[in-house]
Amino acid sequence: MEFRVILVSILLAIASPFGLGSQFGENYVRPQPRETLSWPWRPKHSSEPQQVHISLAGEKHMMISWVTDDDSSPSLVEYGTAPGEYIFSSQGESTSYSYLMYSSGNIHHVVIGPLDGNTVYFYRCGGQGQEFHMKTPPSQFPVSFSVAGDLGQTGWTASTLEHIGRCEYDLHLLPGDLSYADYQQHLWDSFGALVQPLASSRPWMVTEGNHEKEGILFIKSPFQSYNARWKMPYEESGSTSNLYYSFEVAGVHFIMLGSYTDYDENSDQYAWLKEDLAKVDRERTPWLLVLLHAPWYNSNWAHQGEGNSMRASMEPLLYAAGVDILIAGHVHAYERSERVNNGGLDRCGAVHITIGDGGNREGLAQRFRNPKPKWSVFREASFGHGELKIVNTTHAFWSWHRNDDDEPVKSDQVWINSLISTGCISDKRHELRKILMTP
Ligand SMILES: *[C@@H]1O[C@H](CO)[C@@H](O)[C@H](O)[C@H]1NC(C)=O
Ligand SMILES: [Fe+2]
Repeated sequence: MEFRVILVSILLAIASPFGLGSQFGENYVRPQPRETLSWPWRPKHSSEPQQVHISLAGEKHMMISWVTDDDSSPSLVEYGTAPGEYIFSSQGESTSYSYLMYSSGNIHHVVIGPLDGNTVYFYRCGGQGQEFHMKTPPSQFPVSFSVAGDLGQTGWTASTLEHIGRCEYDLHLLPGDLSYADYQQHLWDSFGALVQPLASSRPWMVTEGNHEKEGILFIKSPFQSYNARWKMPYEESGSTSNLYYSFEVAGVHFIMLGSYTDYDENSDQYAWLKEDLAKVDRERTPWLLVLLHAPWYNSNWAHQGEGNSMRASMEPLLYAAGVDILIAGHVHAYERSERVNNGGLDRCGAVHITIGDGGNREGLAQRFRNPKPKWSVFREASFGHGELKIVNTTHAFWSWHRNDDDEPVKSDQVWINSLISTGCISDKRHELRKILMTP
């Protein structure tokens, strides 16, 4: 254990000159982070399912993921709508990876379904152990989402998760930076255990942040642990990479983009994005939302300008498609914009929300640029989480809940009207067709 920490420190020292440790050593002051939680070692039966989490896997299907210490435990999920009565079952697959001195457990992924909407299912993993339960999202409005980025695993994280657990929501959205394992692989396991109570009962849909990279020059390609553990429905959405994908829930089309893989006009991600936007049917999904890690509109000094090149490449596409809301993380503070495009106000642009304040160990990003830009409506450096309720085709209610005092205090709230309802989508139809047709 000690040895492992020393080894990682040495590797980080070697990696820093190559920019691999760039998430460390920024020059702004981050006050009062809380300690990383520590985990009492508890002996487990080696086939006991651990770190259970679920995510949507195509229409009416859910992926159940968990880890076992042994490799003989089956990738089997038994489920049903009454406790203990598992009238359905599905088989899946398992994977594992090694990382320097570390070997992961067996990571199981099993897709179950077809499932009914808005229904509680009881399930068991690997044919043994604890029963879990989950609720599937509704197939129609209203639908509610909880949102928290840059989660980590500190005392603040525990408090944020507790607040999310108290609210009514159908699905959790995480715009990158999950565990802050930062090369110490056992921290992926403790993160999995920390989030299990929530992530086993509602789908968690995540995209990657810089802390998921964990690449080491010439030795390890990036995102190995993240891809093995947090497999998202990329194949179901026609993507060839777990780093970007899309999914639909109730009347919302979500696009999960990758800030740390190529996004220029010649990239696979860009080509996939165009194809995905061409498939969006605003009759079926009147709301169009995007998640990514590094914000495009950010008036905090932290990570200033880091999203600019991705914005330059992809914002014209998203604008033409009429994205309603874009949610980012990375900056450890909260900020909400007016509708914007091309750096300024635009009534047919997206509302941008930065919410990288879930509770990671690095603390808050307190210094905002002054004067406050015209597009910035609300900004505050506090930990917290967001809740988005899409009420119907035209109206959504967004709120941000600060947890400075360990109590969720609703601090910012706003009704958002869909671009469908303000005429922007029909105005853009021609522009979109042109941009999607361009090879
Ligand atoms: C949508 O919800 C809003 C807010 O509750 C309400 O004012 C509006 O009438 C609803 N629209 C429709 C078509 O039901
Ligand atoms: Fe980040």
